[in-house]
Amino acid sequence: MIMTNKQEKFIREDYEKKIDELIAKMTLKEKIGQLVQISPSLFGAFGLTVDELIQKLVNGELSPEEFEKLDRDYHEDEIREGIIGSMGGVIGAEKSNELQRIAIEESRLGIPMLFGLDVIHGFRTVFPIPLAEACSFDIDMIKKSARIAAKEASAAGIHWTFAPMVDISRDPRWGRIAEGAGEDTYLGSVIAAARVEGFQGDDLSDTESILACAKHFAAYGAAVAGRDYNTVDMSLQTLHEVYLPPFEAAAKAGAATFMSSFNDINGVPSTANKYLLTDVLRGKFGFNGFVVSDANSVAECVVHGHSADRKEASRKALLAGLDMDMSHGTFREDLPDQAADGTIPEEVLNEAVRRILRIKFMMGLFDNPYRTSKEKEEKTILCAEHIEAAREMAKRSIVLLKNENNILPLKKNLKKIAVVGPLADNAEEMLGTWAVTGRAEDVVTILSGIKSKVSSETEILYAKGCEITGDKDADFKEAVEAASKADVVIAVVGEKSDMSGEASSRMYLDLPGKQEELLKALHETNKPLIVVLINGRPLTIPWVSENAASIVEAWQLGIQSGPAVADVLFGDYNPSGKLVVTFPYSVGQVPIYYNHPMTGRPAGKIKFTSKYIDGPVEPLYPFGFGLSYTTFSYNNLVLSSTEVKANEKLIISVDVTNTGNVAGEEIVQVYVSDVTASRVRPVKELKGFKKILLQPGQCETVSIELNVSELGFYNENLEYIVEPGLFKIYAGPNSKEGLEGEFNVYE
Ligand code: GLC
Repeated sequence: MIMTNKQEKFIREDYEKKIDELIAKMTLKEKIGQLVQISPSLFGAFGLTVDELIQKLVNGELSPEEFEKLDRDYHEDEIREGIIGSMGGVIGAEKSNELQRIAIEESRLGIPMLFGLDVIHGFRTVFPIPLAEACSFDIDMIKKSARIAAKEASAAGIHWTFAPMVDISRDPRWGRIAEGAGEDTYLGSVIAAARVEGFQGDDLSDTESILACAKHFAAYGAAVAGRDYNTVDMSLQTLHEVYLPPFEAAAKAGAATFMSSFNDINGVPSTANKYLLTDVLRGKFGFNGFVVSDANSVAECVVHGHSADRKEASRKALLAGLDMDMSHGTFREDLPDQAADGTIPEEVLNEAVRRILRIKFMMGLFDNPYRTSKEKEEKTILCAEHIEAAREMAKRSIVLLKNENNILPLKKNLKKIAVVGPLADNAEEMLGTWAVTGRAEDVVTILSGIKSKVSSETEILYAKGCEITGDKDADFKEAVEAASKADVVIAVVGEKSDMSGEASSRMYLDLPGKQEELLKALHETNKPLIVVLINGRPLTIPWVSENAASIVEAWQLGIQSGPAVADVLFGDYNPSGKLVVTFPYSVGQVPIYYNHPMTGRPAGKIKFTSKYIDGPVEPLYPFGFGLSYTTFSYNNLVLSSTEVKANEKLIISVDVTNTGNVAGEEIVQVYVSDVTASRVRPVKELKGFKKILLQPGQCETVSIELNVSELGFYNENLEYIVEPGLFKIYAGPNSKEGLEGEFNVYE
């Protein structure tokens, strides 16, 4: 994915001169203050949990006024001292302007603050979780989703989102797979750039733009055993081929900030990793923004065992290339002495300050620190246009995994429809993880969406059936009765929002609680069973795959979940999504991903090949898979040449025909395989895709251009090369099917 590097725009002579003048005036304390982000909230702010604080309130140890002050102690005196460069968790135009005014008017140098927040998939208009959006392969829509998030967040006084999360993940046990774009590096890179562009727009000083933050740098998704925060160990080749490209794409798209990850890589915590934060990020990617640590990750370098104490951790992090500490104390308490006695060279400190001030100038905060107002906030948040966009994004994120005998789409005038399951009439769990400012009251549930869709003659029979989790004997009776009376059963099952996201690794990937038993009880009624999945990760659902008539992967689609699911179930939208993560048959297969090397003994019929003795090697559903209400055929794969040089382009053309009787969108995928190389290569890798709409019977010749230079890998000396030799090309509907061709790369 060849991109121009937008990082150059961050170096402006006029701003650099102003920064020089400002740094010359700053005291040591003020300089270190710029490197500090605090979060004025209960969580971690005072070393007490919410419960402990509430207990103090209950015990009368805290007055309500003290509780209120503790709850939102905005450190106003420290702002006046000019020692807070950034705050997390400041929400609302009025609060933002109030605190910024203190910084601008009451501190010695009047340096504006940056207010950051996790605006991961929408602000108040909550969009589908990022993993779901990625399944749309609709880059324009994904960019639009980020832009709307930026408009609402900036209207609410926020300058900076801690997004996009661009971690590649091949392990669905890891809960944060929900926050990214899946297992594929090429798609992850395209989406990383789109989200950065959506958040930042063309000009950071545009008051509707917010700073992007590419996170978590790096390889956080490769945590051993899928256990969050766990160690990461991999070859530098794999790091550069699989995990770093989406970060490079984000940097080249102009990401103003990066966030270092909690994990170590090969024994060095990312937060204090000079190779990562300086050699790669600034040396290779040409990054000119600044790097913020993840929450408290500087201090945690001591826990890692990489520093003896917080002073050493702070010093190592700053010297490695970290600029801002997301915590309450480390940099602020542990840097002054070391800076004063020269242990930390002044130019290192000044360079970190410079990077942060550079971004504040780029945002225009010195000239226009109050970028919003209460009126603008009220007009922007949750407006009709944003809600409609959320529905458009949601329906495109849905993946149809099974549709036996074309049971879907349903007629809108069916006599009786049973809608059952613990997530059918649930609003909260439609928001998904990291919906920090989302509200259940804004959600249209799936039950509501269905009720609004069907005719007045249709009777909807609703029953919850069981809870999402828990083993207490579920009350299936009511749900089974409803199913028995209905023409068709729609069962809405899956996970809670907090079962994915941060600190939410699962060792089993089954439907939680008694939900699968509920489905089996419903199946006994012999009524057609349509399963709608609400989840933040791939689930192991072999029984459902075998026995349900239809499976609709609806992820967590945000506030418009109901209308979007109903649009698909009743045919007002023909589902077009494709999986961006492999669905394992069993958790025992994990990690499992499509772009794996061949091995010397690929799974075969004989015993002594790479397979299991107690289960299949193949996944339940492969990367790139998704059905439609129509069908498509692929014919006539043509390459612009079968002999190319490494610096040339190759154009792949294939005829795609809609062979069904309804219009539909198809995501045409092109994969490449380097058949023989000095390091074994994946059996195939996605290198291009195009989403097209075809009317019934329509045929389109789809052309996708490849840069042969992007088909390379890192050799044993960590040099990027494209080796001459035979390459195979695949064009098709997913990573398992398609037409095959081949070409040669020559010197
Ligand atoms: C969390 C997450 C990170 C988030 C940050 C601020 O620990 O790891 O993704 O942006 O803290 O909330």
